[in-house]
Amino acid sequence: MKSRFRLIFLLLFVLAIGLGASRLFSRESSALAAQKVPTAPAQQSSVDRGRYLVENVAMCEECHTPRDASGALDESRRLQGAPIWIVPVRPNPNWAMNAPALAGFSGYTEEQGAQILEQGVGPNGLAIRQPMHIYHMNHADALAIMAYLRSLPGTYPQQ
Ligand code: HEC
Repeated sequence: MKSRFRLIFLLLFVLAIGLGASRLFSRESSALAAQKVPTAPAQQSSVDRGRYLVENVAMCEECHTPRDASGALDESRRLQGAPIWIVPVRPNPNWAMNAPALAGFSGYTEEQGAQILEQGVGPNGLAIRQPMHIYHMNHADALAIMAYLRSLPGTYPQQ
């Protein structure tokens, strides 16, 4: 009787190992399949990711896209620069009253863009003024945002 139990236990054990191994194997093979994706769509997906970060995570448009008469974002002038409507709680002489155009992003090198988005430091070496946030993005996110901004029609810093 005892040995039969042992046998059943052993069978279950072998079955569990088999299941685990097959999972591992299928995961490995799907990882291999993913590697075969050509590079062109990867670039497109970087633009898409940048757009997602700009529109839904970092909310750049709230300041950098002008508004229409009703106060809604004017998407026909997406990221073309806008006057700042937020006022500081306490008087702040270092408050920026204008958010520059970002569409095209041609006025910045990749290093300058990364410095702005990863450290909050502008090309002049000074901290970006409020109300712009000091972002501490990772490099991949900063590159994706720049790829998206460069995909938009427009030549920064013309406004
Ligand atoms: C709360 C408003 C606000 C948001 C949100 C915002 N910005 Fe800004 N941004 C500004 C203002 C204001 C300035 C001008 C700052 C200055 O003059 O120092 C600015 C400046 C910039 C500059 C120019 C910096 C320079 O020194 O030349 C870049 C590039 C920029 N923003 C990119 C972005 C991106 C990309 C996002 C989203 C990830 C974003 N901003 C989100 C308000 C904002």
